[in-house]
Amino acid sequence: MFLLSICRWLAETHISIMMRDATYDFAIVEVGHLLALAVFGGAVLLVNLRFLDWRFKKQPASQVARELLPLTAGGVIVMLVSGLLLFLAGPVRYYHNPAFRLKVILFVIALFFHFILQVKTARQVSDRGRTSPWLKAGAVLSLLLWFMIGLAGRAIGYV
Ligand code: HEM
Repeated sequence: MFLLSICRWLAETHISIMMRDATYDFAIVEVGHLLALAVFGGAVLLVNLRFLDWRFKKQPASQVARELLPLTAGGVIVMLVSGLLLFLAGPVRYYHNPAFRLKVILFVIALFFHFILQVKTARQVSDRGRTSPWLKAGAVLSLLLWFMIGLAGRAIGYV
């Protein structure tokens, strides 16, 4: 109930009314959400392809993790800000939407899981050798989590 009262309060804010009533704002922000998804999704895929030893094997996994961190971190911040703006177009409606609830829970899990994995690897002084089975398993789980978030995001408009 506490979260619902917060959503009801948010729905009365100026920014929520603007996102709800303005002609193009929601569509423009959603395009931004999807463009950020392309950059973020691409960077997450490249990092995990290295962790799986499927691509970029000439570079140490730590180097790939380090060099792609600005893209994954920057991308997820834009996903979060644009997602919150979309959410503000209907806080109460999204509060009751099971696909949105699942998406937010998966997003929090994926955020911690993926970035602990990427930052920990980026800090390592690894060689060009094969990655550990743990890192490979982590990469599979990371890809699965982000894919399910995308599916839940797409499903929001259908449930
Ligand atoms: C990296 C994480 C994320 C991914 C991969 C993602 C993906 C998506 C996708 C694929 C859509 C569907 C777009 C469409 O129907 O055209 C979507 C819509 C949406 N997303 Fe995200 N999203 C992410 C993070 C977030 C976050 C953090 C929030 C809010 C806190 C959020 C809120 C929304 C909302 C409200 C919609 C609009 C749903 C609708 O009314 O159709 N997203 N997202």
